[in-house]
Amino acid sequence: MKRYLSVLVLGLFLALGCGLKAISYSYEAVCAGVGTPGNYLVKISTYGKSLGKAKEKFRSHAVHAILFKGVSGSGATGTTCNGKKPVCNVSYEENRTWFDNFFASGDYLKYVSYNNGGYISSDDRIKTADGNYKVSTVLVISLDALRKRMEKEGFARTLSKGF
Ligand SMILES: *[C@@H]1O[C@H](CO)[C@@H](O)[C@H](O)[C@H]1NC(C)=O
Ligand SMILES: *[C@@H]1O[C@H](CO)[C@@H](O)[C@H](O)[C@H]1NC(C)=O
Repeated sequence: MKRYLSVLVLGLFLALGCGLKAISYSYEAVCAGVGTPGNYLVKISTYGKSLGKAKEKFRSHAVHAILFKGVSGSGATGTTCNGKKPVCNVSYEENRTWFDNFFASGDYLKYVSYNNGGYISSDDRIKTADGNYKVSTVLVISLDALRKRMEKEGFARTLSKGF
């Protein structure tokens, strides 16, 4: 049964993967302050046809940002993630199968959590001109753990000591 399920899931996943080639990770990620050592506090903004759809993307898109895009500065001094480069030295496309699975399996959830329980202030839920929603919240990224994982998989530059 378990085996059957995983084959089913894999099949579904492959089918989705082909259909979803065009899916874009559309988001904004801005450094949101000083996290505890080894962590980033990131304000992530995502888009969706409904509030719920937009909120579903918070955690995966934040991890995507840290891995492939980097985080823009907030301008605040002392923030740990201002202007940091992406963790990965490979692109999502180069190792698409691995990263598809990393996100689809929920593996990535080990490296991200809500700050303030995912609170969204009224200023942070915006209905855009095209009728979609843009919502933002602050997340905590376990940067050190995520970086170690990517190094282990061979997807990240190994940084010299003192980072
Ligand atoms: C990642 O992609 C590279 C280049 O295509 C390949 O050599 C490597 O085996 C891939 N790694 C994984 C874990 O899929
Ligand atoms: C990424 O960095 C690791 C560690 O330095 C290295 O082994 C790997 O070849 C690099 N991959 C690419 C595509 O540059």
